Amino acid sequence: MQFELKHTTGGSKARAGFITTDHGTIETPIFMPVGTAGSVKGIHKRDLKEDIGAQIILGNTYHLYLRPGLSIIEQAGGLHKFNGWDGPILTDSGGYQVFSLGDIRKLSEEGAKFQSHIDGSAHLFTPENVMDTQRTIGADIMMAFDECTPGDAEYEYARKSMEMTQRWLDRCWNQFEKTAPKYGYSQSLFPIVQGAVYPALREIAARNVLQYNADGYAIGGLSVGEPEKDMYAMIEVVNEILPENKPRYLMGVGTPVNILEGIDRGIDMFDCVMPTRNGRNGMLFTSKGVMNMRNKKWADDFSPIDPDGTSFVDHHYSRAFLRHLIIAGEMLGAQIASQHNLAFYLWLVKEARMHILNDTFKSWKEEMVQQLSVRL
Ligand code: GUN
Repeated sequence: MQFELKHTTGGSKARAGFITTDHGTIETPIFMPVGTAGSVKGIHKRDLKEDIGAQIILGNTYHLYLRPGLSIIEQAGGLHKFNGWDGPILTDSGGYQVFSLGDIRKLSEEGAKFQSHIDGSAHLFTPENVMDTQRTIGADIMMAFDECTPGDAEYEYARKSMEMTQRWLDRCWNQFEKTAPKYGYSQSLFPIVQGAVYPALREIAARNVLQYNADGYAIGGLSVGEPEKDMYAMIEVVNEILPENKPRYLMGVGTPVNILEGIDRGIDMFDCVMPTRNGRNGMLFTSKGVMNMRNKKWADDFSPIDPDGTSFVDHHYSRAFLRHLIIAGEMLGAQIASQHNLAFYLWLVKEARMHILNDTFKSWKEEMVQQLSVRL
């Protein structure tokens, strides 16, 4: 994997670049749709690529390991072959889902013992076996196994947690180096910087990851209950230390405003379930503000969903019809809303990139942030 920094822009830390993987090139900054169980919920791969313009998608080690299981994925020839997405794939390590979904039996130096949220069966994730699992899934970008420290953690807890994540990273790295890709294309491993909301811990964690000279670095443990201003402050502390010439990935973030603020602070990659999850609940993000499709005001609005939207659905379905589908609990409502929101997120980062390249990012961003906060 290679990262080429194309342009930085005045008055901001925002950057435009290219990440090249064996499954294609990604323009950064980029938003990565979340395909937890190997599919982006409700979205066909054709729409993902051609309508939404996705360039890389996420998969999840925790979910894929539990279901369908590694044997099926390996028999298929890896996740790309299994789900038919031939672009780049990044897998999260399970270091988040084990803690949020699994019933944790025991967290120890060895790893995390947990019970499946599906059938209660017992499992152990270790830094080593999580590397092996991601080799088998065949992600272009694998993530280190970490503990996602809660946003309200006390300093001592956060310090111990961050230090264990560092020791786990070392084990991940050894295992990564000892093993080879299974399907003939190369795989990268990104370390994850933890440290909760403590600048001193974030600094230590950010300096520590540099020793691995990785292809890219991630910032985790944010947007997990801490105040927004703390999240932005932590991004600033960490990005001061991470190298300029490697991509920086802010995990699990966030709202369209969070994404613009992240880009402004030098983040290159984002993922979040928000466009799909909130879409399924009837919340639409647009360049004019947020629409709650359950609101009665849309019931007889027969105009297109989003006249400025880039997706097919924006121009071929009315607000009134989409509201009806959402209220009636029709599957198509969730699909249309997810497709719209993902297309909007991809539009937003593409637009940001264009403004970075034209040196108009800062003023465009300030205007956009105002607009995005409007409730329509
Ligand atoms: N997704 C969102 N935050 C995190 C994090 O801190 N760690 C991991 N592994 N995944 C995440």
